[in-house]
Amino acid sequence: MQNFSYYNPTRILFGQGQIAAIAGQIPAGAKVLVTYGGGSIKKNGVYDQVKAALKDHQWLEFGGIEPNPRYETLMQAVDIVKREDVQFLLAVGGGSVADGTKFIAAAARFEGADPWDILAKHAPVESAVPLGVVLTLPATGSESNTFAVISRESTGDKLGFGSEHCYPQFAVLDPQTTFSLPPRQVANGIVDAFVHTMEQYMTYPADAPLQDRFAEGIIHTLIEVGPQVMSNPQDYAARASQVWSATLALNGLIGCGVPQDWATHMIGHEITAEFGLDHAQTLAVVMPGLWRNRREEKRAKLLQYADRIWGINTGSEDERIEAAIAATEAFFESLGVHTHLSLYGVTDAALAPQKIADRLTRHGFLKIGEHGSITPAIAGEILATRI
Ligand code: NZQ
Ligand code: ZN
Repeated sequence: MQNFSYYNPTRILFGQGQIAAIAGQIPAGAKVLVTYGGGSIKKNGVYDQVKAALKDHQWLEFGGIEPNPRYETLMQAVDIVKREDVQFLLAVGGGSVADGTKFIAAAARFEGADPWDILAKHAPVESAVPLGVVLTLPATGSESNTFAVISRESTGDKLGFGSEHCYPQFAVLDPQTTFSLPPRQVANGIVDAFVHTMEQYMTYPADAPLQDRFAEGIIHTLIEVGPQVMSNPQDYAARASQVWSATLALNGLIGCGVPQDWATHMIGHEITAEFGLDHAQTLAVVMPGLWRNRREEKRAKLLQYADRIWGINTGSEDERIEAAIAATEAFFESLGVHTHLSLYGVTDAALAPQKIADRLTRHGFLKIGEHGSITPAIAGEILATRI
């Protein structure tokens, strides 16, 4: 096992009715800015629950944070935080609202010339406005991690940052808030959590059997409850397991002491920025192709995955690996998340991979993956197999 330092201060308030508990987590005198997205929280009762919980607080609201949250929009909220002397941010929504709110929190306290430098130049985040999250879409793990991914309309970039100052102080995970999700977002959430788990697992053996089994436990759970939540959106028990799986997939725990890949995500972010696919859709396209391309480097873990997740243990090594990758693709497709670009309208087998390779080069992502062996050219090769 590799050395590691693990710190996760986010209090998890899990279960039905827990939105009411947020009042006790936000300092009584703090002026709060409630941030949210396009309005789903006003239709499913979540906004009303937040309003009731904050009845003794002074609060303002900022709606309209887009999926793939935009810098231009978030900077409007930064102005409000500064002008109104906001002392606490409460993000109510999915990963985009949580990520956007982390950026607002960091940008409002940023002392450099341009907060975009936090993303484009890795300018250090020295402090952030404290924040909490009421999560309505289990997928990203953003509710209990340091990361945020922000898009800039004027440049067409989608870039990430992470800072311990941006750890949410608390996260409400009430499975009932997810009942109103459209099927596409439910499926996206399952795929995103699946791929987060695999980014921290599908590398090479590192004498970390506990982390492997944490990861395998999350994957088994997603395969079990995924179809249940798709067919019965109000199945509380299945939702509860889906929600908790998604948080545990990216709150740092399963990644302790193991090598990590993240190339699927880095290529995927460029695909969203270039072609507009949902985040999880890009992952379903890239990961199976990346595994086939990096089969030698990942051989031992691919075989372990084939055996322990899918029970595939007969045939040659290459046959078992191929069967496991095919089973993964079939699982994503069974949820309605397609695994090839042409099914999202991206059909040019020469141009599309080249555009993504060029973007990776422009952003300096020249050697990605757990061995740093995936160059922009190899990313292009992978995508050429995914049209
Ligand atoms: O905007 P509203 O009206 O709220 O609607 C949203 C949005 O249209 C809707 N939605 C959310 N909860 C709902 C609901 N609709 C009905 N009922 C509910 N309960 O779902 C749509 C998508 O929401 P979004 O927040 O964009 O989805 P997700 O949670 O998948 O977040 C995706 C973003 O997170 C980033 C992605 O790149 C992408 O920008 N990621 C963040 C990570 C992190 N912070 O660690 C890691 C991930 O790998 C990922 O990169
Ligand atoms: Zn993701």
